[in-house]
Amino acid sequence: MTTENILTTAEISAIREIYRHFPQKSAACIEGLKIIQRQRRWVSDEAIRGLAEILEMSPAAIDSVATYYSLIFRRPVGRNVILLCNSVSCWIMGCDQIAACVKKQLAVDYGETTTDDRYTLLTIPCLGTCDHAPAMIINEDLHRDLTAENIGPILQQYQ
Ligand code: FES
Repeated sequence: MTTENILTTAEISAIREIYRHFPQKSAACIEGLKIIQRQRRWVSDEAIRGLAEILEMSPAAIDSVATYYSLIFRRPVGRNVILLCNSVSCWIMGCDQIAACVKKQLAVDYGETTTDDRYTLLTIPCLGTCDHAPAMIINEDLHRDLTAENIGPILQQYQ
């Protein structure tokens, strides 16, 4: 299967446009992964192979970057992705209780997607906003100072 059969013309053009700005094609790896994810919500093995071909890298090298970078999803996700911080400050400030509220309201556990495909719940390491713990990201929005009371209205903002 060729790159043209794996990635869309728009994805290929966008990736080529990005790597023109870097001294080496491989430096565009993360941006390439983001372009693919923006179109598809997640990055499949097949898409990794397509990107590898464009950037002249091995699929394994791209996969290791994608696996390391917690904002690249290697499995299908829902329309909205909740990334709840579970590092030490958030843990001290009660992220477990926040997680329990989210899990109960959405009827999912970590790593799961709601049956209506609306949310996927994942964890993420420290978001760098420990003075406002507990914290989470939904899609690209940062939510801080989470409480059992404000978590429900926050979730309702996302369709
Ligand atoms: S530990 Fe959660 S934001 Fe730093």
